[in-house]
Order: sequence, then structure tokens, then C-alpha cells
Amino acid sequence: MSLVTPTADPARSPFRLDDDAAFRRWSDAKLARYPADLGELVVEVKDPRRLTRSEHAAMLDRLRRTNMVLYAGPADADRAIPLALGRQFGVTRLDRNWLSDPDGLSTLAAAADGRRAGYIPYTDRAIRWHTDGYYNAADRQIHALLLHCVEPAAQGGENRLLDHEIAYLLLRRENPDYIRALMAPDALTIPPGTEAGGLARPERTGPVFRVDPASGTLHMRHTARRHNAVWKDDPPVRAAARRLHAILEGSEAGVLRGLLQAGMGLISNNVLHDRAAFEDDPESPRLLYRARFYDRLDI
Ligand SMILES: [Fe+2]
Repeated sequence: MSLVTPTADPARSPFRLDDDAAFRRWSDAKLARYPADLGELVVEVKDPRRLTRSEHAAMLDRLRRTNMVLYAGPADADRAIPLALGRQFGVTRLDRNWLSDPDGLSTLAAAADGRRAGYIPYTDRAIRWHTDGYYNAADRQIHALLLHCVEPAAQGGENRLLDHEIAYLLLRRENPDYIRALMAPDALTIPPGTEAGGLARPERTGPVFRVDPASGTLHMRHTARRHNAVWKDDPPVRAAARRLHAILEGSEAGVLRGLLQAGMGLISNNVLHDRAAFEDDPESPRLLYRARFYDRLDI
């Protein structure tokens, strides 16, 4: 019996607020198996397009523990890699946005000009903690996020990572009211912006934590950006958001830090992450492919 991965039976989900015993059992097991540093999450692979049985099993083990794994393969700029990895972990429904390429991947590099230059992923600036797609409609939330590094920056560009289940766990252990507040359907509002085809995107309001009623799994929608996020004007929500921010910026537990080198990548259930600012070598600028999926990894 696995106490780490939520079961397919939603009645037994550790994320039910009315079942404290199930939550305690799950959270003790989860913390016991959570790695102390990012190195434990790295699995070396010969060819990410065709994982061996043992590579796949090693990656599955990390994914079940932390909702993420880093693979390290040979330097390779093949755009098929993130899509092939997605298929090997059961995700195919790609999220395409107006800045993605025809194959559905986003090519993340600092753009000097053009339509991408106004959007922070396509700059060399730091990006605050978030989960991907927090501005998407409720029925288009991102459940899996994959990154493949073709070229790291000359300097900087590290990521911090935190399993969103750990963020939930720490908040709930301290005060379950934090979770109640962040599950409010109007906890976090993203002001209007731009979406596919350059069309205006309406305001998006939704919860931070949501438990999928069919599977009992946890999804998180978060951004620490100050200018394009409005927290509900309600003391419990504001208190919970402040505590979440302190956990992400503190060193108390769980925050992992590392740098993707050429040939490395991240496979995740859209865990919390940020990105440090970076400096490019103009001869070989930082280049990553990103794939976002509506499905959760089949783990
Ligand atoms: Fe992101």
C-alpha cells in the first residue's frame, strides 16, 4: 500500500480536510521520503526518447516521492524529446498558447524584440515562484510541466523547486485554516491579459489548492508576482498567502535548488518553481524547450 501517492480512490485522498488521520499518515510518509537535495532527483538516461525499463522505474520512484524528476542525458537539441518523454509518462494533451511554436512547445530564450519580448519567460529577468498556467481558464489548468535544456546560461538561470504537495502539507500541519482559505473559489484573481492569437484574456478567478473530485489528487495554482495577481481581500486568505510566501522564501523545508545543464530536463506535475536572472553568452544563449499538458503524469 502506498502512503505517498494519493490513491485512485478519492474517498481515501489525504487531501480531504475531514480526514485528519489519513492526512497524518500520508504526510509522515511523504516527509520521510522527501529528498534533502536536488541530486537525489537526478536520473541519468542514455536516450530520453526511449527510456530503458530501469531508467523509467528510477524516474517513477522520484515522481511518486516528489512529483518531479530531473533526467540527465547527452546534450541534444531534438524538439521531439519533451513530447516523447511526456508520452512515456502518459501525458499527451498539450497546452498551446499564442507564444508557443507549431509543434506546441515553447522555445524559452531571451528575445531581444518581437511579440515575445514583453513576456517575462522570454527575458533574462528573474521569475518569482509560481505554478505554470495560473492565468488559464479552470478547464485548461496545467497538470504536467516538462522542461528540456539545450543550452544553459553563461551565468545564472538556476531554478528553485518545491513539490506543491509539500507546500500544502506544511501549511495544513501548521493550521488547516490556511488550506480552507486557499481552497476558496475566489482566493486568487489574475487580471485581464493576452492569450492565444493575441486576443484579450478575461480576468481569471480561482482557488490556489483544488482536489480533483475524480482522482483525489491535488492541483495548485499560484503566482508570487506582485503586479498581476490579486489575493482575495479577506484576512484568512491574506494570512495564508503570507505564510506560503514565507515557506517558499525560507529554508525550513523542502525547497530544492539547481541548474539544468545541456541535455538535462525536468518532468513534473507542475510543481512550484522560480527562475533566477541570467546572463547569456551571445554565441550560445540559454535555450530551453517547455511542454505543458492538461493531463497529470501517470504515476
Ligand atoms: Fe514556469
